[in-house]
Amino acid sequence: MTADARSRPRSRELHRRASRRTPGGVHSNIRLAGPRIFFESGSGPWLRSVDGDEYVDYLLGQGPNFLGHAPEPVVRAVSEASRTGVIFGGQHELEIEAAELVCETLGWPDMVRFGVSGTEAVQAAFRLARAATGRTKIVRFEGHYHGWLDNVLTAPDGDGWGPASAGQLASHLDDFVVLPWNDADRLAALLAAEGDLIAAVIMEPVMINAGVIEPRPGYLERVRELCTAYGIVLIFDEVLSGFRLGLDGAAGRYGVTPDLATYAKALAAGWPVAALAGRADLMEHFGTGEVNHSGTFNGSVVATAAVKASLELLRDEPPYAAIDQHGTALMAGIRELGQTYGIPLRAAGLPAAFHVSFGDADVVDYRTLQELDLARYEELAEELVGHGVWVAPRGVWYVSAAHGPGELDAALTRFAKTLTEWL
Ligand SMILES: Cc1ncc(COP(=O)(O)O)c(C=O)c1O
Repeated sequence: MTADARSRPRSRELHRRASRRTPGGVHSNIRLAGPRIFFESGSGPWLRSVDGDEYVDYLLGQGPNFLGHAPEPVVRAVSEASRTGVIFGGQHELEIEAAELVCETLGWPDMVRFGVSGTEAVQAAFRLARAATGRTKIVRFEGHYHGWLDNVLTAPDGDGWGPASAGQLASHLDDFVVLPWNDADRLAALLAAEGDLIAAVIMEPVMINAGVIEPRPGYLERVRELCTAYGIVLIFDEVLSGFRLGLDGAAGRYGVTPDLATYAKALAAGWPVAALAGRADLMEHFGTGEVNHSGTFNGSVVATAAVKASLELLRDEPPYAAIDQHGTALMAGIRELGQTYGIPLRAAGLPAAFHVSFGDADVVDYRTLQELDLARYEELAEELVGHGVWVAPRGVWYVSAAHGPGELDAALTRFAKTLTEWL
């Protein structure tokens, strides 16, 4: 790091310039949280800022850089493929190869449609579920994130959940029922009362966005049974968990198969691609034209080349064992630092994605997550960034295939230095 990594003179200058033409100087509101740093480049698990500071990256661009920054085989495949055109307004063979690879890699889906963002893939899933069931209501869960559009963006509002943004139409939330997650009895009770009105149940099968909380043993199985019993479409939002928790994502890890699932992020190593995958009888509603799913950029050469190269790499050189080892050691190292410094540092979740915070609670859902001292971690995150560890205030750390012993050592050394100076 530079002598005074906090001054970031070039980033400050660029932020002032950016803010004149871009609201807040950022193109996604999530980046309003945390320090405004401009990066010059990324390589493997490292980032270099325009101020000359090096960061060991455990944010991975909010998850996509699962193969590290600029993974050579994907960069090569994308640049070679794009030399001969990127969008045709018609079909090309890479689309087929990428779709086959997605379905074969995951194992359970029959068909896939590509899109550009996770947000859109979720909306396409809702449309299919409503068309297939002829019902309108959708059940979702506290703390799960499904994108930034009016019908899914929520914030705690008294004892319930309401719009999270000015300008958001509260009426778009009317068709959604929000339940506590990881409580199958609550879902069973709701379905007993109004199961025949529910088109879909959507969830992150591991609640990565809020606390990286795993499903209780048997929970996903019970949800699956309930959805089948009531003719409800079960949607797993695997935008974060897909291809990250293993080649077959959370569905494979927990052995529970949804009817539809959304993927993005680790699917294409940083290139903007999302996918909706599912059973043929549901997906074919798009094929007949009965249900509209459109997008100029869907299935572009760039997108499908990135998917193909990324999934081939994950299949041929699976990084999962190394990621497990790295993440496990990193979580253990962070806990050990807590003991050394006499502070209640908590690191919990899965090796590929875990949550760091302060406190000691039995965290099983969004409400119990609030028993932790999340605000104190936000302060620590800013200090960590100041010491060259790129993490977000929300506390979710992601490990990539590119992280190795050098990064583990750098992260823990920098973490210790941060605590020495901060406490
Ligand atoms: C589980 C989940 N679903 C949907 C989304 C929305 O995806 P995108 O930001 O690509 O629109 C995200 C984004 O973080 C996510 O984590």
